[in-house]
Amino acid sequence: MPLFNVYPLYNVTPVSAKGVYVYDENNTEYLDLYGGHAVISIGHGHPKYVEAITNQVHKLGFYSNAIQNPLQVELANKLEALSGCKDYALFLCSSGAEANENALKLASFKTEKSRVIAFKNGFHGRTSAAVAVTDNKNIIAPINAQQKVTILNLNDIESARRELEKGDVCAVIVEFIQGVGGLDQADATFFEELDLLCKANSTLFIADEVQSGYGRSGKFFAFQHYKVTPDIISIAKGMGNGFPIGGILIHPSIEAKFGMLGTTFGGNHLACAAGLSVLNVIEEEHLMDNVNEMAAYFIKKAKTIPQVKQIKGKGLMLGLEFDFEVSDLRKKLIYEHRIFTGGAANKKVLRILPPLNVQKEHINQFFEALVRALED
Ligand SMILES: Cc1ncc(COP(=O)(O)O)c(C=O)c1O
Repeated sequence: MPLFNVYPLYNVTPVSAKGVYVYDENNTEYLDLYGGHAVISIGHGHPKYVEAITNQVHKLGFYSNAIQNPLQVELANKLEALSGCKDYALFLCSSGAEANENALKLASFKTEKSRVIAFKNGFHGRTSAAVAVTDNKNIIAPINAQQKVTILNLNDIESARRELEKGDVCAVIVEFIQGVGGLDQADATFFEELDLLCKANSTLFIADEVQSGYGRSGKFFAFQHYKVTPDIISIAKGMGNGFPIGGILIHPSIEAKFGMLGTTFGGNHLACAAGLSVLNVIEEEHLMDNVNEMAAYFIKKAKTIPQVKQIKGKGLMLGLEFDFEVSDLRKKLIYEHRIFTGGAANKKVLRILPPLNVQKEHINQFFEALVRALED
């Protein structure tokens, strides 16, 4: 049976990984500055993570959401403590799209409205409502195009005001740092006014922190760089360091009802063990301090490269913008210098999404390779 051919693949076959490095079948070492698309937060094969998952699968890997699961409670409490998001409730699922799907559904339940405002170049996933609010016509099937969605430009607060005042908008969904789009960010005043406009018009404000959350921006959540209070915060990627787990944090103003949301796999025992060990390592190894230190170091080095026209993003969610498309540069980095990096919808942006425990030596390795790759 052939695989359904939807991914253009690099010809690399990773078979093992440790920390910031990935190894192929010939034991060739690759520096991973892509983190499997911002997923690897605490590093590949972290011993505490491996131990937590191994112990849990020996005890109980899975049972449904029809029974008591104290691991979910432990995960929620730890998440509250580390994120500083007091009094929010947690609903667990298994991916970023599913998190946004549930966030949008909840906003519609709560407000009894159905139109959503989203932003140009935003990416929120590939399920029904999530893909409908994603600004990419190529991935929206006719069945998804039935959703009522208005896509606005970031920073266009007057259009946002006009649309919100029509009164039919259930949610505004935004990435505080755009990931797939290419690391663009709106101004602080835009985010803060948007939050107030949502509150004034009974619209829920959804922070899509699927990629930017879990310390990647240098704060636990990227929205915490601003004075805003999201009603719903969606999370996934770094949450499980590769184990599929996602979720939404839900403001106490939104009341739960039995049956309102649900899932078979979300919040299972193994996922919770993975999620808990990620939070423990982020705390014990002060990874958010490391993000800020390494981001400053990376940016300082990037400023010395004349071909880099702009440095975008925050923390270890960074983009280097060139005045040429970077697909050949990425190929050179991977095949000649053995370094994984990311691309974006903005084809001139090279994305840097390393594990949060990356060190100066890895950043030095990258810049030495980049200089050589740019010389060729
Ligand atoms: C901001 C954002 N939201 C949602 C998603 C979708 O997550 P998933 O691929 O886990 O469904 C992504 C994935 O790249 C993302 O970057």
